Amino acid sequence: MLVTIDKNDRFPMPSYPNGWFQLCYSDELDSGAVMPLSYFGEELVLFRGEDGAPRLLEAYCAHLGAHLGVGGEVKDNCVVCPFHAWAFDGDGQCTDIPYAKRIPKKAKVRAWPVVERNGLILAWNHGDQAVPSWQVPEVPEFGHEEWTEYTTRRWKIRSHNQEMAENAVDSAHFRYLHKTQNIPPTEATTEDHLLVMESPATMTYRGMPVEGRIRSELYGFGFTITRFWGIAETCLVSSATPIDGEYIDVRFSFMLRKTLAGSAIDDPAMLEMVAKKFRQAVERELEQDIPIWENKKYISPPVLCDGDGPIGLFRKWCRQFYVA
Ligand code: FES
Ligand SMILES: [Fe+2]
Repeated sequence: MLVTIDKNDRFPMPSYPNGWFQLCYSDELDSGAVMPLSYFGEELVLFRGEDGAPRLLEAYCAHLGAHLGVGGEVKDNCVVCPFHAWAFDGDGQCTDIPYAKRIPKKAKVRAWPVVERNGLILAWNHGDQAVPSWQVPEVPEFGHEEWTEYTTRRWKIRSHNQEMAENAVDSAHFRYLHKTQNIPPTEATTEDHLLVMESPATMTYRGMPVEGRIRSELYGFGFTITRFWGIAETCLVSSATPIDGEYIDVRFSFMLRKTLAGSAIDDPAMLEMVAKKFRQAVERELEQDIPIWENKKYISPPVLCDGDGPIGLFRKWCRQFYVA
C-alpha cells in the first residue's frame, strides 16, 4: 500500500509563507522566452516581455485551460495561449482574442508581483494575495568589479521554509552536527521582516586558526544574504522556494572577493583554491542538515536549554509570514 505523508502532519504552519521567492536566474530567461514552473502549490508560467520585464501568471488559460507555459508565445508584453491564441498581459488580464468582437470580463488569470534583482527573478507570494510589504534588497557585491560572478548549487529538499531558516539561529547544532570547534555565540536582532544573525567563527588556514565572522540577513524565509570574513571574503545569496507543500527548491549563489583585502591569504594564486574549499565546506554543512530536516518533526513549543541560540526570538519573528 502506498502511504502518502500529509505535509501538515509534520508542520502545523501553512506550507506557503508570505514573502519573496526565487523563480530562476535572470540568464535562464531570454527576451521573449516562456518558462513553465511549479511553485507555491501552483502551475505557473513565467515569461519575459519584449520590454525585457519578467511576468508571472497562473499557467492554466482562463478559456479552456491550456497550459500557457507549454507552447505559449510572447507577443509584445503578453503571453499568447497555444490553443486559441488568447493573449494575457502581466496583470493576468486577457487583452486580445483574435476571433472575438468582445473580451469577456472574466477572461483573467492570477498574476504575481515579480522583481528582477541581483541576477535573480523573484515573485511575491502571499496567502491573501496582498501586495508586497517589503522589497528585495540590492546586493552590492553583485556585478561589482572586485567580486566574482555567481558559482551556483541547487538542491530539492523535503522540508519547510521555516525549519530551514531556523538553522541560522540554532547555534548548538554547529558544534554537534557540523563539528565546529565550539558553539558559536550567536547574536540575533529582528526588525520587521528582517532578521540579522552575527557570530564569530574560527576558521583554519594552513593549519593555523584564523578569527573570522559570519553575518546572515534573512529577508523572510525566501531570500538570505550571508557574508563570511576570515580566510576568503565570501558572499552567499541563498534562496528557498516552496514547490508543492512537501519540497523546497534551494539555491546557493556564491561570490568571492577577488582582492586580498580582508583575507588571511597573502598569495593571490591560493585564493581561488581556498575559496573553492570554503564553498565546498558550506555546501557540505547544508548536506549534513538535509537528513535532519527531511526526517525531523516540528516541535511547538520546543524544550530549550540555556545553551541554545535565540530560537524563541526566531519563532516569534516567524509569525508575521503567515496569514491569520
Ligand atoms: S485554452 Fe487558451 S485560448 Fe483557448
Ligand atoms: Fe546547519
